[in-house]
Amino acid sequence: METKVAIIKDMNKDIEDLKEAARIIYDGGVVAFPTETVYGLGANALNEDAVSKIFEAKGRPQDNPLIVHVASKNIDDLVVEVPEIAQKLIDKFWPGPLTIILNKKEIIPNKTSANLASVGIRMPSNNIALKLIELSGCPIAAPSANISGRPSPTDVERCIEDLNGKIDFILGGNKSDVGVESTIVDCTVMPPVVLRPGGITLEMLREVYSDITIDKAIQGKPREDLKPKAPGMKYRHYAPKAKLRIIKGNKEKTIEKINEIVQNYIENEKKVAILSTEELSNKFPQGKVITLGSEKNLNEVARNLFESLRKCDDLKVDFILCQAFEEDGVGLAIMNRLNKAAGFDILEV
Ligand code: TXA
Ligand code: MG
Repeated sequence: METKVAIIKDMNKDIEDLKEAARIIYDGGVVAFPTETVYGLGANALNEDAVSKIFEAKGRPQDNPLIVHVASKNIDDLVVEVPEIAQKLIDKFWPGPLTIILNKKEIIPNKTSANLASVGIRMPSNNIALKLIELSGCPIAAPSANISGRPSPTDVERCIEDLNGKIDFILGGNKSDVGVESTIVDCTVMPPVVLRPGGITLEMLREVYSDITIDKAIQGKPREDLKPKAPGMKYRHYAPKAKLRIIKGNKEKTIEKINEIVQNYIENEKKVAILSTEELSNKFPQGKVITLGSEKNLNEVARNLFESLRKCDDLKVDFILCQAFEEDGVGLAIMNRLNKAAGFDILEV
């Protein structure tokens, strides 16, 4: 299949490209597009055949439901009801990186919701995404625009890398600002539960409703007896090709341990990369250092995380070492993605 690529630089001048992409969605095709979290791979959420093409292009397991993207805060057509707290969260955080799980109406096909009675809905804040949804005239089902299991793409080049030749159209725009996927909150239960941490932090959510909890199954190492409530959270994910290991401890010990392990790898003729904060980046004399951002700006670290994992693959390293981050604010989402990318290989020092 030939994939058309169009970069939207100016929403007015490039409107014809957006209209063409919207027409493809309306007609049942698949289009990758930018959002503020990560790039998405979109199709008409109400068209089962169209949605099937997303699963096929990504190689996505059939039991993993898709998030439905909308361009309005009024979602009465899609869900049975919007409980009071869900409405408050929508009013406060939409458009933005928050997905709300609610009981679905029949209009949402089972293919989209992977046979669940609920559906995840989000209104993105990215202008290109919003315009695409508006122009296509239908809600857009969109997972992250990566091949299943790989780190999510935060720019158009990475979408092209994964999906060229597999979908109809790739719309490019600015780099994703948040860099990790949306926070998912299940509002079918009381109190609501965070199923995936993301750009809207637990602290921000609790300002709206202090009893919001977090799914126990996504805290700490995966357990046989505790299945995550978001089906997608059970898979190994965000994984670079190299083996990633997280080093957790105070600064001095972390630096010392990383250098010791790097030395060992190099003696064994292995290539190794170190994902480091700006503050520590000159502490590692050997190995390829990739800077994630300042430890004082975890939003920057989140923004660079997936791209840095992909850079490690470009460098064809065998191993990646990364320091652990505090799990406050967006740090919770960063550590969630890092833990999964590392298959929970965490060395405490
Ligand atoms: O930021 C994002 O949310 C991005 C951009 C493109 O909007 N999308 C995204 O989609 O991350 P995806 O498919 O990569 O992740 C969706 C996650 C999966 O873990 C899935 O299992 C969960 O949402 N999910 C979707 N619907 C659900 C539902 N009804 N109940 C529980 N989990 C659900
Ligand atoms: Mg994904």
